[in-house]
Amino acid sequence: MPAITGNKRYFSMKKQNPTILAIESSCDDTAAAVLQNKKLLSNTLFTQIIHSKYGGVVPELASRDHQKNIVAVVKEAIELAKINLSELDCIAYTQGPGLLGSLLVGCCFAKGMALALDKPLIGVNHMQAHVLANFIDIEDQIEFPLVCLTVSGGHTQLVYVKDFLEMKIIGQTLDDAMGEAFDKIGKMMGLPYPAGPTIDEFAQKGSINTFSFPNTIVPDLEYSFSGIKTSFSNFFQGKVSQNKDFFEVNKYDICASIQNKLIDMAMNKFCKAVEKTKVKAIAIAGGVAANSALRAKVENLAITKNLKLYLPNKKYCTDNAAMIAMVAHHKYLAGQFQNIDSAMPIPRMEF
Ligand code: KG4
Ligand code: ZN
Repeated sequence: MPAITGNKRYFSMKKQNPTILAIESSCDDTAAAVLQNKKLLSNTLFTQIIHSKYGGVVPELASRDHQKNIVAVVKEAIELAKINLSELDCIAYTQGPGLLGSLLVGCCFAKGMALALDKPLIGVNHMQAHVLANFIDIEDQIEFPLVCLTVSGGHTQLVYVKDFLEMKIIGQTLDDAMGEAFDKIGKMMGLPYPAGPTIDEFAQKGSINTFSFPNTIVPDLEYSFSGIKTSFSNFFQGKVSQNKDFFEVNKYDICASIQNKLIDMAMNKFCKAVEKTKVKAIAIAGGVAANSALRAKVENLAITKNLKLYLPNKKYCTDNAAMIAMVAHHKYLAGQFQNIDSAMPIPRMEF
């Protein structure tokens, strides 16, 4: 069967200041954004609440909810951007990593739009997008190379960033992600999903030194958050069996102490990565990058080591489509278009 589209044609039509529609649907957020020459015109988001009662994301429900909401979310992004569909220069979507059913909804929708509007299609790596969330609304020259600590609900990565599209993972978790540790520990305490923001809030009122947790030894630049989760479970169950009001009485100190431990673990390897790579600039990314104590520690690291720091706006730390559009902008300029016929989601997509 002949290919429906020819990317060579798009390549010759390329502009220097593209207007991009980006769609994000990798997990439990349906999001769309319009970016015009790196200026964000709109950024819409629908966070699925259906999962909170299950204490985690239910993949089947997530894809159904994306399907239900994607038209309204994209329409809103176009309306808020005050543009006509004909003004779009390309359609971008999250190709992976993520939940297959969720990714399929965004991918099919983007393919349909690209086909109907006769515009090029760009597939974006969600983890690369988290890194580029640091550069949304930033005008100045970016200081490459840098090391980015990406900490989300599904990933914990130390990324050596050579350029906007050139990055390499130099360390990652061997088991649970840092956000996952926040969420699972929160669930043990009966906190609603996702527990990260609540732990952050409670921790601000508590003391980091009240409770201590053992160290986890992991080689090189790798991480492991599964041991600390088990230690916390043993600690918490032991205390509650002695005093059923243990959580209510101590919740601020418990959250401050365990959060401090998780952050120390993240910072330890981050500092090692900075020393090893000798970079002069650092960044953080992903949902956990919204954590106030982590942000303070990273700011402190930048000051003490005299490093240039990129700190993403909190609204761009958790999943959003603006960050997908940022990657798409650079891929557009590089002419990295996809074949609409064969474009597919990649649930375990790597850089
Ligand atoms: O990047 P993200 O929105 O989704 C993934 O790609 O996974 O990250 C979601 C994660 C959740 O685990 C959530 O608990 C965590 O980010 N998170 C936080 C905070 N805000 C979100 N963790 C700690 N402190 C926060 N303020
Ligand atoms: Zn994410």
